Amino acid sequence: KMLNFYLLFIVLHVSEGESETLITAYTGKSVLLPCSCTDLQTTPDTFSWKKHNTISNTWDNISSESDQYRNRVQLFNNLSPANLSLLISHLTEEDAGEYRCDVKYAEITDIRLTVKDCILVNRGETLSITAHTGESVLLPCSCTDLNSTPDTFSWRKHNTTSDRLEEISSESDQYRNRVQLFNNLSPANLSLLISHLTEEDDGVYRCNIEHGKFRDIGLTVKGKILLLGLLSILFWLLGTLTITVFNELHLVSVLFFYSIYSKDHKTNLFNYSNHSIISQTKCYTQHTASS
Ligand SMILES: *[C@@H]1O[C@H](CO)[C@@H](O)[C@H](O)[C@H]1NC(C)=O
Ligand SMILES: *[C@@H]1O[C@H](CO)[C@@H](O)[C@H](O)[C@H]1NC(C)=O
Ligand SMILES: *[C@@H]1O[C@H](CO)[C@@H](O)[C@H](O)[C@H]1NC(C)=O
Ligand SMILES: *[C@@H]1O[C@H](CO)[C@@H](O)[C@H](O)[C@H]1NC(C)=O
Repeated sequence: KMLNFYLLFIVLHVSEGESETLITAYTGKSVLLPCSCTDLQTTPDTFSWKKHNTISNTWDNISSESDQYRNRVQLFNNLSPANLSLLISHLTEEDAGEYRCDVKYAEITDIRLTVKDCILVNRGETLSITAHTGESVLLPCSCTDLNSTPDTFSWRKHNTTSDRLEEISSESDQYRNRVQLFNNLSPANLSLLISHLTEEDDGVYRCNIEHGKFRDIGLTVKGKILLLGLLSILFWLLGTLTITVFNELHLVSVLFFYSIYSKDHKTNLFNYSNHSIISQTKCYTQHTASS
């Protein structure tokens, strides 16, 4: 019996040793907690994965039957008996902690798992964006760590009438074919692109990830640039017109005074233009030259 124990102990040398292994993973993703016998030909008769319960200070069995791990844990020892690694998928922050690969008669493998969650860039801050009708606008929202993925996220818009946040759905009439996400290509990029902006799109938008973490964006939608352009041209024309009218009046008055002046002093126009008081009418001289 004693010899049997010894043999098993030698054979089932677990490769990780007694020191704790540190592993970092991200919420929503999977992690492989490694554990295997040094000799891959061996088959341990019994082993279990346990997690340290910090509240009761006990090591609890990880069971695929429990609510906590159902459909989330996977072993590979049916294919490769010496491979005792555990794959945990759809990680949540609650999965962080100490894990133990407990093999009978073998050294214990302890693993400390850190689970990183999505932390929003500029979380809690409100960004203001101005765009024009007909244009597209990108409402930025992303996780600081591009490897992290929030479990779920949503975009909502504040309805000022009902004072409620309403889900932005690409299925709704309001947003059909107008909204686009990029998280399928880059999971940490939660930005929303709204195209063909209308004045109704003006308002406050919220990019929301789990546990009430969000980022707000105030979007101001202004009328078309074209309209603004036309208005400014109109004002410019009005201004020019006014100046022209004033110049004409100026011309009339200067001619009037000139006629009086020339009668009195009997000088010609060229001499007159060199006269000191006439420096104010320089624009008039230019005006007549161009017309
Ligand atoms: C944990 O799992 C091992 C292996 O399946 C089993 O022998 C042991 O009795 C379990 N412990 C508890 C507390 O359920
Ligand atoms: C155990 O199996 C997993 C999943 O197939 C694999 O990724 C891992 O490399 C294996 N470990 C060893 C030591 O073979
Ligand atoms: C905002 O809320 C009001 C009142 O509930 C509703 O009638 C209106 O349709 C909502 N506006 C939008 C854009 O959903
Ligand atoms: C998210 O994707 C959009 C569209 O491809 C891109 O313009 C934007 O820069 C991306 N944001 C980040 C943080 O990568």
